[in-house]
Amino acid sequence: MIFPPGFVFGAATAAYQIEGAVAEDGRGPSIWDAFSHERGNVLAGDTGDVACDHYHRLESDLDLMASLGLDAYRLSIAWSRVQPAGSGAWNEAGWDFYQRLVDGLVARGIAPYVTLYHWDLPLALPDGWLARDTSHRFADYAAEAARRLGDRVAHWTTLNEPWCSSHLGYGSGVHAPGVADAASALRAAHHLNLAHGLGVDAVRTAAPGAQVSVVLVPHVLRGDPEAVRRMDAVGNRIWTGPMLGDGYPEDLLADTARVTDWAFVRDGDLARIHRPLDALGVNYYSTMLVRDDPSASPGGAWPGVDGVRIEPHPGERTDIGWAIVPDGLTELLLELRDEHRDLPLWISENGAAYSSGARDADRIAYLDAHLRAVAAAISQGADVRGYFVWSLMDNFEWAYGYSQRFGLVDVDYATQRRTIKDSGRWYRDVIRTRSLPGV
Ligand code: FCB
Repeated sequence: MIFPPGFVFGAATAAYQIEGAVAEDGRGPSIWDAFSHERGNVLAGDTGDVACDHYHRLESDLDLMASLGLDAYRLSIAWSRVQPAGSGAWNEAGWDFYQRLVDGLVARGIAPYVTLYHWDLPLALPDGWLARDTSHRFADYAAEAARRLGDRVAHWTTLNEPWCSSHLGYGSGVHAPGVADAASALRAAHHLNLAHGLGVDAVRTAAPGAQVSVVLVPHVLRGDPEAVRRMDAVGNRIWTGPMLGDGYPEDLLADTARVTDWAFVRDGDLARIHRPLDALGVNYYSTMLVRDDPSASPGGAWPGVDGVRIEPHPGERTDIGWAIVPDGLTELLLELRDEHRDLPLWISENGAAYSSGARDADRIAYLDAHLRAVAAAISQGADVRGYFVWSLMDNFEWAYGYSQRFGLVDVDYATQRRTIKDSGRWYRDVIRTRSLPGV
């Protein structure tokens, strides 16, 4: 057996990427509704209006999960479905959907892992993540979610990949709300950190005994040491510093000094952000290669960084263009083991975009290699508790629209027909045997 007893095998999705039904039963608009409807933001003008129509196909999608034999399912709650304006009144019909989802999982023996924020901020919140008030509104919402679902949901995640929310949403502008401004990205990052800390406390107060984590996408960086250091500061330590340690790293503050004075960090914030966590969720897809190059800029997703060039990492790529680097995952898990000794880890997302349809030997090879990379890290002492494939089914891949397919299950968007891919059957066997074929 290469996976320890109790190791959890799951699959993940996110609300806006699968639910559809964006204007039904009282759901309020989110920043992704507005962004995807603006021309030029999403490939082919795709939106999440219908997506996988999961909202209307809940029961059969639950059966699909059961037929794959999943131990666990990672879902996100659409904040604007349960609180249309992001503050004030709750929408009972919205909560009812998540009640049915959670009950349906529990009835099938599948453990729900709930992410509170997977990028779909209620549009009505003034100034989005630029406003400090949004962090407090998030804490209210987190408390209510834990109050309503905490008797059946043991595993809670505050934020999914805050790097994308701030640096892509406010830095490069390729994600909602589409702002391209370095200072705004850093301000949003701080408010996301604050939301996380307040959210941890809110969940724990409402659901004592909850397991609380955050999901990050730690950038695995290779190349010239100075380029790596700077990208690591603004890409990784901007989160792990305040969430897991003593605050914002000195080198980050120095590197970004010409962009912002960080005056949005108030007295007491660092203590509010640094709250004890039960686990760290790790999303991993690829590894980056970076070089010192005075004439280059890595772009708006790296606020405050210039003189760094991002080079294509050697190796084969998936359809979305991300290099396949399984040993980067082992490297990352061992590094996290060394830096945060007592913090259990789980792979909250890993997967590959391929348009090979249901005969997806390419996806099986990717997943197999990455599960072996996880096993290698475990055998060297990394405390990894679970692994979630991104994604249960093909879905709305943000700025790429429906052009990229990550699912274990194929979705025919014209008919909404689901077909389990070879990778889905392969994964079912992995889960059943708790091991990889050939090991
Ligand atoms: C991650 C996101 C997830 C999905 C995958 C491919 O960054 O968390 O929603 O889009 O990438």
